[in-house]
Amino acid sequence: MVQEQKNERKKTILSGIQSSGDITVGHYAGAIRNWAALQHQYECFFMTADLHALTVRQEPVALRKRTLDVIAMYIACGIDPESSVLFVQSHVSAHAELAWILNCFTGVGECSRMTQFKEKSQQHNENVNVGLFAYPILMAADILLYQADLVPVGDDQKQHIELTRNLAERFNFHYSPTFTVPEPFIPPVGARIMSLQEPTKKMSKSDENQKNVIFLSDSDDVIAGKIRRAVTDSGTEISYSVEKRPGISNLITLYGVATGMSFAAIEEAFSGKTYSEFKSGTADAVINLIAPIRGRFTQLRSEPGELESLMKTGAEAAAARARRTLSKVYKKVGLTERPR
Ligand code: TRP
Repeated sequence: MVQEQKNERKKTILSGIQSSGDITVGHYAGAIRNWAALQHQYECFFMTADLHALTVRQEPVALRKRTLDVIAMYIACGIDPESSVLFVQSHVSAHAELAWILNCFTGVGECSRMTQFKEKSQQHNENVNVGLFAYPILMAADILLYQADLVPVGDDQKQHIELTRNLAERFNFHYSPTFTVPEPFIPPVGARIMSLQEPTKKMSKSDENQKNVIFLSDSDDVIAGKIRRAVTDSGTEISYSVEKRPGISNLITLYGVATGMSFAAIEEAFSGKTYSEFKSGTADAVINLIAPIRGRFTQLRSEPGELESLMKTGAEAAAARARRTLSKVYKKVGLTERPR
């Protein structure tokens, strides 16, 4: 029995966030806190997708800064670099290399059907570049290189995982089993945080209206101000109903994420209270959540040497794993062995 347990391989998880904006409380609620909870049960790889960020125009200095910010934020939110592999996508060249091979196995039609591509090419219609088109293929490379079993993602990325599965199966069928066919993984406690001013759309780091978004780097005053000005609903009732009260429901979700309380317990605690009392309660709760994260983040960012050495360790561990997959692939497709 003991022997059996020892032989059982931990399943592998890979996920990432693009460094195209600052990390929000939405990332925390929907992704990072779950990653932190998974890291001891699974073998985890978490990266910053800086190559993906290049599919829309970035200011180079800002992109560089944000890529480091994301890694520091992962750690500040409780991801332990001793148990998970944390790395920057562009530090592991195998991502771009495998993406090229997979490009040659993906139909133009498959990419043009992607909902995110259609949306983003409308949003950035002055720059519909080939990278934006091939975005999901690079994402497939991210996942397949590590032989990931599970990929925690939000709903909006499920179609990309479906494409990844198709590519893995296609390659495995055409050659021989090479890639693990991954599954999307919707964590047991997911929470979708919506925009503060337009609570029917998802909170997004790239929202032009900063009042819509709570960043994990926001100061206490800024957090309190944004929550105070959040859109609520006509009515007075503090009870969860996305259809009837999207604004209040979003604040209830935020409160729940910040305190771990159930919706029912929150409704009970605020029954008979005003929206304004509930907002200040929510602001306090969110500040209690974010202030220590921000503190750890600031400390990490003030010690560049330490972060750099963590990223080096992460990139080396990631590259070692990725290289194994890439060399199998190179061999199978018929590339000649690199002279040593
Ligand atoms: N496309 C993902 C997003 O925008 C980010 C991402 C890039 C990713 N590569 C990945 C997520 C690999 C999971 C696995 O959310």
